[in-house]
Amino acid sequence: MRSLLVGFTLIVMAITAPLMAAQKVELSIDASKTGAKIDRDIFGQFAEHLGHGVYEGIWVGPDSKIPNTRGIRNDVVGALKGIKVPNVRWPGGCFADEYHWRKGIGPQRVATLNPNWGGVIEPNTFGTHEFMDFLDQIGADAYISVNVGSGTPQEAAEWLEYMTAAAPTTLAKERAANGHPAPYKVALLGIGNESWDCGGNMTPDYYVSQMKIYSRFVRNFNPAQQGKQQMLKIAVGPGGDGPRWTDWTENVIKAYQQHTWSWDINGLSMHNYTVGHWPPSYTSAGFGETEYSQILKSTLEMDGLISKHSAIMDKYDPDKKVALVVDEWGGWYAPLPGSNPGFLVQQNSLRDAILAALNLNIFARHADRVRGANIAQMINVLQAMIITDNEKMVLTPTYYVFKMYVPFQDAKFVPVTFDAGWYTHGDVALPRVDAIAAKDANGKLWLEITNLDPNQPVEIEASLAGITAKSAAGETLTAPKVDSVNTFDTPNTVVPKPVSAKVQGGKLTLKLEPKSVTVVSVEQ
Ligand code: AHR
Repeated sequence: MRSLLVGFTLIVMAITAPLMAAQKVELSIDASKTGAKIDRDIFGQFAEHLGHGVYEGIWVGPDSKIPNTRGIRNDVVGALKGIKVPNVRWPGGCFADEYHWRKGIGPQRVATLNPNWGGVIEPNTFGTHEFMDFLDQIGADAYISVNVGSGTPQEAAEWLEYMTAAAPTTLAKERAANGHPAPYKVALLGIGNESWDCGGNMTPDYYVSQMKIYSRFVRNFNPAQQGKQQMLKIAVGPGGDGPRWTDWTENVIKAYQQHTWSWDINGLSMHNYTVGHWPPSYTSAGFGETEYSQILKSTLEMDGLISKHSAIMDKYDPDKKVALVVDEWGGWYAPLPGSNPGFLVQQNSLRDAILAALNLNIFARHADRVRGANIAQMINVLQAMIITDNEKMVLTPTYYVFKMYVPFQDAKFVPVTFDAGWYTHGDVALPRVDAIAAKDANGKLWLEITNLDPNQPVEIEASLAGITAKSAAGETLTAPKVDSVNTFDTPNTVVPKPVSAKVQGGKLTLKLEPKSVTVVSVEQ
């Protein structure tokens, strides 16, 4: 009986062995051919007054037992410094079009409601000064979304004057009295949010006339932002790929083409979440290969969407002066059981890490037009970098992808050619691998390769032209299961580990684990 069993096991192993054998993928990279700069702003974050994104996620107040600096939690600041956040979009989202900045300054804060997100009390204790202090602590730029839906151009103009005027206007003096004599910098200005929906259900024509007025009057007075450092104005752009959205893009960019000296825009936003289908019902943990492959298939639609809207922009703005800014993107799944559905609480798994890498690679390939993006959202909401529970904090798999991609910030895109092959599951077929390369300011070559296949490793052989490669080293992010997550008790399930790569005769070879994200640098 025993020998029969051994024999049977050997036969099974012989049959399955070829299936588990590593697939080979050849890449070809010419480091002398650089393309557009991968703008660091594509690694931007989004922090809306929503659930525990701001309150608890960032702000605990100066009297909290959670270690903090002027009310901002130290553990979160420390973690965010590690991913070199370029900018944070705030205060929303849908919240922005109901935000009135005066309620969030000075010693007396006005408590209001947050009707979009659970109808909870909005204490306004985290306002302009607290946001700017937070940015200062993490070293990021401000991306302020002004209220077009329920505010006025005057309210927005005064907010900008309050933040940025150096001259002793009454508003600048009020800012000083509230603790900040020096003007703040505002790098990016969002003119409304989803004005076609939660931002006021406007028609494209109506929005375009609002956009012109806000662009004209909402000025940045900071003397340090008058030349090259000027504030970039981002108009509301599309939220999908149907005619409703292509019409929207066409209307805004056509208006831009005819803009006069009195107004201007520098960017067009685009929102695109990976949902699978609406309303969000895919679970964020406790799923299998079917849901893994379906969500990745859905996320890859980002590429077609960018191409579609870029093509419309190219018609009216062939010099690509207006950036496409994907300022809301990420996985949006069913709320975690027991959580407030208005708080958009979800887990963050290895699948999200791979989803993040695939999207960042898409943005990098469109670097000439996509010069900004903001993942939704930074902490405790949707596809977050960080999850907290009171004093506890855990870094998500997505956080580690952003950390591994730091060298790609402002690096020059280097084209990579490869035949990815296919990974199939049920009726889903996905490219087996994805890859990008870039050269940083010091001339060092960086390579990212994602193995989407959750079952099979991949042997990479990359031919490197244009550099004399000597060695390569890097990190890989994987985990036992497609839905592996980091928890407060087990924070190291999905963390990057060193990976060894060999360089010989102008070729780099390395083995990718199944379902992994890998970044290597090449020494010359
Ligand atoms: O990120 C959550 C919400 O999604 C934002 O508030 C809104 O802009 C979008 O619909």
